[in-house]
Order: sequence, then structure tokens, then C-alpha cells
Amino acid sequence: MPDRTEIYRAALALEAGQLVAFPTETVYGLGADAENPEAIAAIYAVKGRPSGHPLIVHLAEGADVTYWAEAIPDEAQKLIHAFWPGPLTLILKRASHIPPAVAGGQDTIGLRCPSHPVAQALLSAFRDGKGGVAAPSANLFGHVSPTLAQHVRDEFGNDSRLAVVLDGGQSDVGIESTILDLSRIQTHGPVLLRPGKISAADIAGVIGKVPAEADKAAPRASGTLQSHYAPHTPVVLVPAEKMADVLKRLKDKGRRIAVMHYSPLPDVPETSFSARRLMPSSVEAYSHNLYASLRALDEAGADMIVVENTPGNDAWVGVNDRLRRAAHDAGGLLEKWLA
Ligand code: TXA
Ligand code: MG
Repeated sequence: MPDRTEIYRAALALEAGQLVAFPTETVYGLGADAENPEAIAAIYAVKGRPSGHPLIVHLAEGADVTYWAEAIPDEAQKLIHAFWPGPLTLILKRASHIPPAVAGGQDTIGLRCPSHPVAQALLSAFRDGKGGVAAPSANLFGHVSPTLAQHVRDEFGNDSRLAVVLDGGQSDVGIESTILDLSRIQTHGPVLLRPGKISAADIAGVIGKVPAEADKAAPRASGTLQSHYAPHTPVVLVPAEKMADVLKRLKDKGRRIAVMHYSPLPDVPETSFSARRLMPSSVEAYSHNLYASLRALDEAGADMIVVENTPGNDAWVGVNDRLRRAAHDAGGLLEKWLA
């Protein structure tokens, strides 16, 4: 874990308009001073992210939310009380003095208070805890999010615009925060823009309203693009009961395959694939390892990453959302290769 000197060096870099990568409990973030439009522009440039995609502003525990958001509905107060610090991002109406650049020009703002101790140490050191750190996941646009400091270094190499990478070990949750839009609550009710560890049922348990699924009128969110979180190697999802058969047929076709599974594969010889990750069967442990496993399998130089479908029940909504998006671009590829 970084010591106080490293934390202060990182906070000073942020204050000077530089970029700092830091760990959160979900994934690593690529941070900049949320109120410095030039620093925000550097995030978009380094990530290769289109400028219309808004960034989440990270706040220290106990920070004044009314500084950032114009109207704080009761529901937001309750959710903050219940889940902050933690993996829940709230979309609220942006306060008019906050530069629109951080919100991709929208009149809303995404706010989140991460629970990782290194993130909190950085946020309290940065402008004495009164600033906000805008941070998307610290990966190139569309690529797999980082859950280790080494992933961030792999992603950005020696990019001189990244002043510091704080190493806080492996992110605990492993998938990005749940995003809940409360900015249109009077007219549309709460809307779930991105599923995550905090589920729709968890939210309903606190505010007494089940959030609606994101619709077309919802604000743009890059995590809601159909293709996202994707390795370079094509990813295909295969039902559990078809795994053995599909792997055998791909091998017969001479394909080099990497496999991510959580059921045992007793009938499939190890020579059928170039790399394999046996995933844990609990959703928490699976999420924790998901991106590191996808990155490792991506390194195997295979033609395809075959992922065993995970259970369809509510607990797996966040993981299934990420897997579907990772597999989006390879739609139809498996059928073509097996034909
Ligand atoms: O867990 C997380 O949320 C991580 C860590 C670093 O905190 N951050 C993260 O950021 O996933 P990013 O930029 O990769 O994804 C943020 C998502 C995007 O889909 C973005 O469009 C959406 O949040 N978002 C941010 N502000 C928004 C706003 N004002 N309205 C709608 N969507 C917003
Ligand atoms: Mg991202």
C-alpha cells in the first residue's frame, strides 16, 4: 500500500492538473481534478474516449454533495446513507458552477464515494477533501477495465501524462459501480443505467421503488454501449451443457482456444485449449477475478475466448452484463467457425 508521502505526491499532482491512476474497490480509476477542464481534456485524450461521454466525480467520505449537485432528492440522501462509501454512482442535476466538461456537456453529474482506503486517502489529501476527482476506469476506451496496478501500466505504458499510478492491490469487487440516475426522478422515477454489485433489489430495499431499466431517453453512458469491456481476442458465450461439444468441435477445426469456465470439464483433454481459467462459483469471487482472467486469456494468443455462460439469476446481472458486452462484437462468429 502507498505510504503518506506517495499519497501526498499524488494529491499534489492532481492539484497541478496532472493525471493519477488510483485503486477503488470496483476497478482502477484514471483521475484528474474534476474542476480543471484542461485536466479533464487530458483524460479523454489518454483514454481515447469520445468527449461526449461523462465522467464520474469521486468524493471523499462526508464531502458536501450540495456543492456538486443542484437538487438532492430524498432518495439520494437515503442511498448515500446506506451505500457510501461503496460501489454506487448517483446521477443528479449538476450544480451550475461545476464546469460542464466533466459531465460531457450534460446538465447532470455522476457522483460516487469509493470505499477503497487508498482512494479515500487520496480524496482527503486532494484539496483537503473538498475537491472532486473525475475518474473513468483506467483503460483505453472500450477495453477491459483494470483491477490491478499492473493492468494500468500495461494499458498506458510510459505515457508521460500519467504522473502517478498508486498501487492498492487487486480491486475487491472487480466490476464497475452500479449507476443509478436520479436526475429525472420526478418524471421518470429512478433508472438503473449500469448494473453492479449493488442490485436493483438492494436499491428498492432502501428507497421503496424498483429502478427502471435504462431506456433510450436515458443520458449517454459509455458503459451502456453494446460493445464494451472487451479483450482483443473475440469472446463467445456458450451454455454450460454445450461446452464440451463446442470445445471438441473447435479443436477439430484447428482453432486455438482460451477457455473461461466455472463448471468442471472432465471430458475435455487439456490439449484442447491454449489457456484455461477455472472461475470460482460464487458471484463475488467470480466478479473479483473476471477482468484479470479476461486479460490473462487475452494474452494466450488464442483465436477465441470461449466463456461458459454464468447463471441467469438476479445475483449475476452485473457479471452477465459485462460478459454480454465483451462478447458483442463476436456475435455469429462461433456459428461461422463451426459450420
Ligand atoms: O466503478 C466505477 O464506476 C469506476 C471507478 C473508477 O470508480 N469508474 C468507471 O468510470 O467505471 P467509466 O467512465 O469507465 O464509466 C462511467 C460511466 C460511463 O458509462 C458514463 O457514461 C457514466 O458513468 N456517467 C458518468 N456521468 C454520467 C452522467 N452525468 N450521466 C449519465 N451517465 C454518466
Ligand atoms: Mg470504463
